[in-house]
Amino acid sequence: MSTRIKLLEALKKKSGSFVSGEELSTVFGISRAAVSKHIGVLKKTGYTIESSPKKGYLFRGAPDLLLPEEIRARLETRVFGKKEIVYYPVTDSTNDRAKALAIAGAPEGCLVVAEEQKAGRGRRGRTWFSAPGDGICISIILRPVMPPSEASRITMMTAVALAESLISLTGLKVNIKWPNDILVHGKKLAGILTEMSMEMDVVDYVVVGLGLNVNSPLVHFSDEIKDLATSLFIEKGETLSRTLIISEYLKWFETYYDIVRNTGFREIMKRWKELSDIIGRDVTVDVVGTKIFGRVEDIDADGVLVIKDPSGTIHRVISGDVLLKDT
Ligand code: BTN
Repeated sequence: MSTRIKLLEALKKKSGSFVSGEELSTVFGISRAAVSKHIGVLKKTGYTIESSPKKGYLFRGAPDLLLPEEIRARLETRVFGKKEIVYYPVTDSTNDRAKALAIAGAPEGCLVVAEEQKAGRGRRGRTWFSAPGDGICISIILRPVMPPSEASRITMMTAVALAESLISLTGLKVNIKWPNDILVHGKKLAGILTEMSMEMDVVDYVVVGLGLNVNSPLVHFSDEIKDLATSLFIEKGETLSRTLIISEYLKWFETYYDIVRNTGFREIMKRWKELSDIIGRDVTVDVVGTKIFGRVEDIDADGVLVIKDPSGTIHRVISGDVLLKDT
């Protein structure tokens, strides 16, 4: 931990009372000028710290930013977020940054977060937009020891982990829409983009990107998605702490990731099916221009949608967009 972050922690611990520059300089073994310089940088980052020449420094509040130290302060994980958290006020895409880090050797559990993405990507070549500070754009680096054919389990596991974390924090009725959208009241709240690199039939790394609309008011959505998207703010009528949501998400993510690797996938698959509520429903699936209509018979352990069309033919759909007949 850097001296600046230690200094911040010390001020937070004593929040409500002033800490003198002299005390800070003694505790951290730095000059008072260095203390004042660190405080200046913290203020520039957005922290509210009152300075009094006689009394010292008083911590008043943290900015509403996804700063690594703010995320770390809330973490309840063993691995995820415990190593590197790379923070960007603005970047192209957190998935692209995470992939670059993974290629450079970053270990499992590294996180990339951004307030704003200029080239946020969604599934099937779509873009993902989130106004600065409105949402959560986060990518996790994984290095699972599993065959690439099982990697789709990670996307499904992520959807379940996210749904569980949102249910536990907000009490909202959250649904999973195949393959990996999170909906509330039929509108999209979050999307997951999983990207994998493999070498010689083994997974080298997986990057799991999550885009979640947290504090976005309706006016921040473009006309194109206004009727299709929602945010936690719209659903709950209150703003929520994005760092708290990240911490809850990572807690569930770590638990389910351990289950996928150690115990197997059955339990997660069961929960996925409960949350998706798609089996037995009539759907139309858009698969690159072709439409398949039929009843969902099952989702298999690889996340493949099994559909029986009216003629009785079975279709196994790996990727596409689902439209429920009765919505
Ligand atoms: C989808 O709904 O199609 C998936 C959207 C995924 C968006 C997230 S935001 C963080 C990460 N970085 C990206 O460029 N995309 C994912």
